[in-house]
Amino acid sequence: MKSALCRNRHFVLAALSMVMVRVSYCKLTKLSIPAIAVYFGTKGRYEEVNPHLIDDILFVNKSVVSPPAPDCQAVHLVAVIRHGTRFPTSKNIRKIHRMYDVVMNEASGNEQWLRDIKSKWSMWYTEDMDGKLVEKGKDDLRHLAVRLSKSFPTLISEENLRGERIEFITSSKHRCVDSIQAFQDGLFKHWNVEDVGFRHNVNDSLMRFFDQCKRFVEEVENNKTALKEVALFKSSQEMDEVCRRMAHRLQIPHSQITPDLVEAAFFLCSYEFAIKSKNSPWCNLLDEVDARVLEYKNDLKQYWKRGYGHEINRKSCCILFHDIFRRLDQASYDYRFGEATKAVTIQVGHGETLLPLLSLMGFFRDETPLTAKNFPQQQSRKFRSSRIVPYAANLLFVLYECTDGLRLQVFLNEKPVTFPNISDPAPLYHTVRKHYSDLLGGCGFKKECELPKDKFKNTEL
Ligand SMILES: *[C@@H]1O[C@H](CO)[C@@H](O)[C@H](O)[C@H]1NC(C)=O
Ligand SMILES: *[C@@H]1O[C@H](CO)[C@@H](O)[C@H](O)[C@H]1NC(C)=O
Ligand SMILES: *[C@@H]1O[C@H](CO)[C@@H](O)[C@H](O)[C@H]1NC(C)=O
Ligand SMILES: *[C@@H]1O[C@H](CO)[C@@H](O)[C@H](O)[C@H]1NC(C)=O
Repeated sequence: MKSALCRNRHFVLAALSMVMVRVSYCKLTKLSIPAIAVYFGTKGRYEEVNPHLIDDILFVNKSVVSPPAPDCQAVHLVAVIRHGTRFPTSKNIRKIHRMYDVVMNEASGNEQWLRDIKSKWSMWYTEDMDGKLVEKGKDDLRHLAVRLSKSFPTLISEENLRGERIEFITSSKHRCVDSIQAFQDGLFKHWNVEDVGFRHNVNDSLMRFFDQCKRFVEEVENNKTALKEVALFKSSQEMDEVCRRMAHRLQIPHSQITPDLVEAAFFLCSYEFAIKSKNSPWCNLLDEVDARVLEYKNDLKQYWKRGYGHEINRKSCCILFHDIFRRLDQASYDYRFGEATKAVTIQVGHGETLLPLLSLMGFFRDETPLTAKNFPQQQSRKFRSSRIVPYAANLLFVLYECTDGLRLQVFLNEKPVTFPNISDPAPLYHTVRKHYSDLLGGCGFKKECELPKDKFKNTEL
């Protein structure tokens, strides 16, 4: 609706009686999105990767999700979904409070936004909010559920739900459990049926494999040098200039503005927007140049902790990779020899679940690693978490039955993605299996994740 009005502005202008109202409406909707919102990384709204949803949150572009050929029919879907919009974690809430205190006590200047922060904005983040799902986060999943059932109506159907052919699996974190319940709630409301308390299974081995992979924990998670590129970038020239500009805007000595405080302002702008849909006065502390630097800092962290930076980041998710292909194999077996027992698997986890899986499968791999030094050369990098893992990000594996055999198509955030090195957007399933034969034949959780001394301990016992 909104953008239709905006697009037709000239036409609408002719309708004299409405002119003032509509023009200001268009301005308002534009102004309500911070200019830096596309750089929020893992703290970004889903709507920024699918802007058409801003106008109609339930819109499905049928030509994008239609079967690869008219003779094909969807037979199975595995969806790996990140939880919806959430509160900041306690650690980031403490940072936000420090930034707030600095601005309240030290900043001078007469700009309207600064006066707004000081007189109109009040601190409402408390530590007990610790990463919980917010109301907008529930809506993210409710709406996603409706769109997916519109996209794949033969799979996500009331009949399949009642027949228990849809399986729900989640990480144990409250924000994920709340997300999967919101997803189910979205389906019930859409079909206008009563919530009969459909179950879900908690499975952290699958959805939080990163906690259980000892090699990952020791070599990356608890290892400061594993993320040294992030630390180097924090003390880079680029970051220092961001601090300098922010100090200047606030009229505070440069020495008092640290990268952590700059990041806290970035968080404030992103959370106010994601949670409350507000273009908060805090967003004025940063411009697009600053936001690109902070986005890169976030991408560096994801790259070295969850992506291609260290081999074990990717290998830590072997168990989820095998689980997905086991489901697809089962579906292809069922399809050949009888009746399908399962149509859909909905798996809810984290950004930290999706990034290793995408990396293991070779998506968004840049030729040159992301480092503290090559920010200028990485402007058009593929590994961009703002595009890949916003809140409610989702990776869909859709198996189709076609005249020439089974085909597999992958969608990220409801848009088709092509497998690395396979040009066909929906290749034959056996081609995909062949492509990943090394991983399918190996990539064992034990082999990849156990530490030598564990094996030693085990034999001692
Ligand atoms: C739907 O997707 C197609 C193909 O990507 C695109 O050309 C078309 O503009 C989209 N339609 C709408 C209404 O967004
Ligand atoms: C979790 O999933 C894995 C892989 O499919 C499976 O082996 C394991 O039994 C599941 N655990 C629970 C508690 O369901
Ligand atoms: C920590 O990370 C560095 C850099 O990747 C690596 O060389 C080192 O072996 C790691 N330390 C441990 C204990 O795994
Ligand atoms: C794709 O092909 C390139 C070049 O042949 C190769 O280096 C790369 O490993 C391949 N990627 C995957 C995921 O197979």
